[in-house]
Amino acid sequence: MDSITVITPKPNGPLIVEGPVRIITPDGVEIPVPPRKDGRPAQVVVLCRCGGSATKPFCDGTHKRIGFSDAPATGPAPTI
Ligand code: FES
Repeated sequence: MDSITVITPKPNGPLIVEGPVRIITPDGVEIPVPPRKDGRPAQVVVLCRCGGSATKPFCDGTHKRIGFSDAPATGPAPTI
């Protein structure tokens, strides 16, 4: 595995994380990455960015059911 971690936003879907990664809660607790379906350690982590997953921070496919779109919001730009 390459030592560089690559994060790819999937169109209208999750963030695909490829490479070494650890997921830590704000309290400092490591969240174990689910293994692959065959039980071997995962080489790719799929993170939810739609907010609808029941298994956050991991994607569970809910983005398809809720019609998540990553298109930019229209309207006035947010103010700071
Ligand atoms: S991006 Fe897949 S469930 Fe949220």
